[in-house]
Amino acid sequence: MSLEDLLYRVSPPELSRADLGFGWVSNMIRSRQEIVRTMMQDVDRIRPWWENGVLYHIYLRSFVDSNGDGFGDLKGAMGKIDYLSDLGVDGVWLSPTMPSPNDDWGYDVADYLGVHPDYGTIDDLDEFIERCSEKGVRVLLDLVPNHTSSSHPWFIKAIEKPESPFRRYYVFAKGKQDGSPPNNWKDATGASAWTLDERSGEYYLHNFLPSQPDLNWWNEDVQREFEHILRFWFDRGVAGFRIDVAHGIFKDKLLRDDPPAPEMSRQFSHFGLVETYSKNRDEVHPLYKRWRKIADAYRPNRLLVGETWVGDIGRLARFYGDGDELNLAFNFMFVFTEFDPKSLSEIVQSTLSVLPDTASPVWTGSNHDISRFPTRWAHDDDDKTKVALTILLTLPGTVFLYYGDEIGMRDVDVPIELQRDPMTKLIPMARFQRDRARTPMPWRSGDGRGFCDPGTTPWLPFGPDDGRDVQSQSLDESSALTLTKRLIRLRCSVRDTLSRFESLEVTEKLWRYRCGDLYVVANFAEDESYEAPLPPYKEAVSSRYGAVGSLGDSDLFEVGPKEAVVFRR
Ligand code: NOJ
Repeated sequence: MSLEDLLYRVSPPELSRADLGFGWVSNMIRSRQEIVRTMMQDVDRIRPWWENGVLYHIYLRSFVDSNGDGFGDLKGAMGKIDYLSDLGVDGVWLSPTMPSPNDDWGYDVADYLGVHPDYGTIDDLDEFIERCSEKGVRVLLDLVPNHTSSSHPWFIKAIEKPESPFRRYYVFAKGKQDGSPPNNWKDATGASAWTLDERSGEYYLHNFLPSQPDLNWWNEDVQREFEHILRFWFDRGVAGFRIDVAHGIFKDKLLRDDPPAPEMSRQFSHFGLVETYSKNRDEVHPLYKRWRKIADAYRPNRLLVGETWVGDIGRLARFYGDGDELNLAFNFMFVFTEFDPKSLSEIVQSTLSVLPDTASPVWTGSNHDISRFPTRWAHDDDDKTKVALTILLTLPGTVFLYYGDEIGMRDVDVPIELQRDPMTKLIPMARFQRDRARTPMPWRSGDGRGFCDPGTTPWLPFGPDDGRDVQSQSLDESSALTLTKRLIRLRCSVRDTLSRFESLEVTEKLWRYRCGDLYVVANFAEDESYEAPLPPYKEAVSSRYGAVGSLGDSDLFEVGPKEAVVFRR
């Protein structure tokens, strides 16, 4: 339930009683928006706004196109604020909005204080933030501190004038005696992470593409620049940042070779190397402590969530510090777990046992870099997708949904000639063609799908027109969308209880657990039903059938194949 909903539910006598202290004149002149804002701040005083909440990741380029260029933009997204508030999410994370030559679709920033003209203007962003806030939805931006674009004025100056202070904003180093790169680090395509700057004869470092030079975080001027950037956006009302490559921005000062990774799991090794020195340095922790102080100085507190691509939970836990570093850290071990009761319960339980009590875990199934969970976990099976949605939305901590998760959006086959991701085009053996997870949101059936005007060519193709769209699913009681809304409302109604989690039964095909006042039974079997203990409950939701009425007075109930049922005490 959004705070707006909460407001509507406050009856007039209660509202005036609550407001008495402010005087009747101010009651009359305070707009509804002001009241929503005040209520948001009141809620923040009780617990952080993201705790046990749901955030929604908008890949802006694929959300809604308002101006007929085939790219989603801020004005388009503005038209969907009611949708987001109705969905019940607490906030949105916008994929990079800053000016960029788009070699990595915005993850190559050319100006940290601006807005990409494809998306609109800074006024549009201000308006988006303001209008979201009127509906109780906060807005996070994506911050890319690991590298800039090679078109950023800092890098241009660093190359043009090696004696300028901007040279030290980046990592330049001499090659080895034989002229080869300074060490064995590899970039995101598997090639050397070093490119020769012909003019000076030195190499510069890029952990991603050569047009994404890495910043030198040992330089205090770089640190100061980013403190300014954080404050600039916080002052404009941005609720926080998702921090790109949060685990990787500091590099080994001695530029030592990364060791080989014989036994590493494939997901967390890097072209056969463990990124011990090229990323993953401990020096990030004092930096995030400083950023946290900046974020906490704002009211309500701003949120810092890290893209922490690490392969063990102990290391993940470190990003929370003693409650004084990042507020949230993405858990990629959960993302990449197998979708079965044992694997899921194991990763959930080990995460909860290792993270400090004060830390809110993060659960997510999809994002713009990986296969969507309806495809990856559920193999394009709608019933399994709904089981996955049920589990995601009934775990303790903060859930991030990726746009389209709520309608069970799947990966889309993008023919090679329509692919737009320069990074994966450069890697013939790429683990995953990221375009598959970035296709435009289908708001309805038919030409343009409600994403763009009929006749406009969207920047990436749509998936099949098969009823997996917002309009069709809004009318369907048993759709993924209706389920998502129900689950978010249910979650919200017991939000303060959700930190208590207990796994009750895990078998090959069944997972039963309690999360605060929710009791969940998830059956992963293809065709077997199970009987599970029936608790006393006030409300229940089935992933397959929607709201559940009375289940009789038996002590047991039957949960069907590929079905999950949630009971609220
Ligand atoms: C992680 C982002 O999610 C991804 O899309 C990007 O390519 C890299 N970081 C580099 O910024």
